[in-house]
Amino acid sequence: MNKSIVLTGITTSGTPHLGNYVGAIRPAIEHSHDVNVQPYYFMADYHALIKCRDPERVRQSSLEIAATWLALGLDTENAVFYRQSDVPEITELTWLLTCITAKGLMNRSHAYKAAVQDNLEAGEADPDKGVTMGLFNYPILMAADILMFNAHKVPVGKDQIQHIEMARDIAQRFNHLYGEHFVLPEAVVGEETAVLQGLDGRKMSKSYDNTIPLFEPANRLRKLIMKIKTNSLQPGEPKDPDSCTLYSIYRAFSTPQEAARIRQRYAEGIAWGEMKQVLFEYIDDHLQAPRERYEALLQSPEHIESTLQAGAERARAVARPFLQRLRASVGIRPLAG
Ligand code: TRP
Repeated sequence: MNKSIVLTGITTSGTPHLGNYVGAIRPAIEHSHDVNVQPYYFMADYHALIKCRDPERVRQSSLEIAATWLALGLDTENAVFYRQSDVPEITELTWLLTCITAKGLMNRSHAYKAAVQDNLEAGEADPDKGVTMGLFNYPILMAADILMFNAHKVPVGKDQIQHIEMARDIAQRFNHLYGEHFVLPEAVVGEETAVLQGLDGRKMSKSYDNTIPLFEPANRLRKLIMKIKTNSLQPGEPKDPDSCTLYSIYRAFSTPQEAARIRQRYAEGIAWGEMKQVLFEYIDDHLQAPRERYEALLQSPEHIESTLQAGAERARAVARPFLQRLRASVGIRPLAG
């Protein structure tokens, strides 16, 4: 039976937070145990360079992300877990794809358009001010990540759907010119891909600086949870769980039965202080065992490194021959023999 290939990348520019866990990491790790699926999960460190010029941050983020996924029980026997930069075939493929991608397609990329829009609004004379070729070409690098392994499904957040569509366009164009080499990937945006709210009630996101890091020590976790914004309803007054950040986080971790009990407590007017304590204890309990594994892994980066190297070897075992075939298809091949 042909396994379905599921691939996703994580940009190495931040520290994993509860929103990443619920929206991306937890479902990916669940998939990693599914024998009908062949997952490819990788750290997109070349993507990180597009927005992060702090070398220490890129390195530290790679370490934290790898440790997080391993601590949470990623099945690295099944899943191929690697670092993008350890598979140089991906950047080579990026060039083959760059040569057939219309500039006009890239002009339409949301990330690029948003940068131009910001410049226009700021009254800049040059609409491309501060736009690097990395930012402009980003969707082609991402297409190479995906097409290199002929992924069928690509789990991503909503903001990335356009990039998967671009990868399809690019794949189609290449196939049309040089033969049927690439599978056309599909974006998978999970139903329950719970978008978690952050400290200020907006979507939990690094760009809003409102995140709760996944593996904070218990005392720090407690402090952050106490900071979550609530309204001014008093103890005893009924409260609405559905507009409440505390509840949204609780529900993302709990069973439906537990969530139903908490809804009841809201109706009965649970005090915010008490609810925060309930939430803290629940999450702390849930994360304690993986947090210990995480701390231990951070103490032995050589173990993480060798796991990533083994993953890169598996990835390259697929990428090397495929890239040879693609090069041959465009006319780059030995002149004799
Ligand atoms: N650009 C993605 C993000 O910011 C990360 C990423 C890079 C990715 N390459 C990918 C996701 C390939 C899926 C497939 O979230």
